[in-house]
Amino acid sequence: MLTEKLSRVSIAHLPTPLEPLPRLTAQLGGPELWIKRDDQTGLATGGNKARKLEFLVADALAQGADVLITGGAAQSNHARQTAAAAAKFGFACTLVLRGKVPARVQGNLLLDRLLGAEVVWAGERPLDEAMPQAAEELRAAGRQPYVIPYGGSNPVGASGYVAAMEELLGQCAERERTTGVRMRFDHIAFASSSSGTQSGLAVGARALQYDGRILGISVDQPAGVLQSMLADLATATAEHLGLGFTFAPGDFDVNDDYLGSGYGVVGDLERQALRTMGRTEGIILDPVYTGRAFGGLLDLIERGAFQPGERVLFWHTGGTAGVFGYGEKAL
Ligand SMILES: Cc1ncc(COP(=O)(O)O)c(C=O)c1O
Repeated sequence: MLTEKLSRVSIAHLPTPLEPLPRLTAQLGGPELWIKRDDQTGLATGGNKARKLEFLVADALAQGADVLITGGAAQSNHARQTAAAAAKFGFACTLVLRGKVPARVQGNLLLDRLLGAEVVWAGERPLDEAMPQAAEELRAAGRQPYVIPYGGSNPVGASGYVAAMEELLGQCAERERTTGVRMRFDHIAFASSSSGTQSGLAVGARALQYDGRILGISVDQPAGVLQSMLADLATATAEHLGLGFTFAPGDFDVNDDYLGSGYGVVGDLERQALRTMGRTEGIILDPVYTGRAFGGLLDLIERGAFQPGERVLFWHTGGTAGVFGYGEKAL
């Protein structure tokens, strides 16, 4: 295993299911569509952060921390899963969230509170100022905070998606063995934001010689910005794992055509994607990440971006609780 030398705790329900989407495939008349269900990782309604937290929590335990601290948007899925992981391993948890107290406590924020996290509102302060400040205050009070960066995206967290790529290729090999039919994805598409998921997948792909396309559909960053972040984090993650490769921005396939009116602003693309996946396959997407990414994928299919007969995997990265934070806006 690529990550076997790293400390890791068990949090996620793995392997997550790899399932065909036959009704969608038939309806769209395009490539053969499959889904990887990381919405089913099991930690407080699931999502991609459970994989990253297996490595981050192990590191926090090794460092003798007593508080996990992280930050994000008011409806951050990462914050919610960090709060759950903290509770499960006996840490306190401080979440530094953007903006000010919203009128209603719902969606991820409701779960943060149920899971016992302390929420600090950043107000006008950017997170990279408010998070270190909160950590400093905890230190001054005699606590030992472990600071998890935005999205859990550092080499420790991204290792979770190196392992995820290995898991996927293992599932493909197993399927080939049992069915006798070649099982390879020509494209893997998913929501990309803080770069941890895509970097990890890219490192895993390079190490295991997966040669299909890994397409990050950006939910908030211009492609050039995200590609630079990806090159830095993938290079650092490879080094963390003792693998001798480096990455350049041009190594990453990022599509930023679907940024719409900005992060977390739900539009027709996302609403249509949620309805299509829900009504055709009975699977819930979230309005911020997976809805935007799947909306982009549907648009690409419609525009003929894939060859007939190609196999495309949509990697569902979670966010289910976010649906309840948006209410009717998601309809
Ligand atoms: C549901 C969901 N999907 C995708 C992402 C993006 O993952 P990453 O930040 O690793 O790029 C996030 C990140 O917050 C998320 O919550």
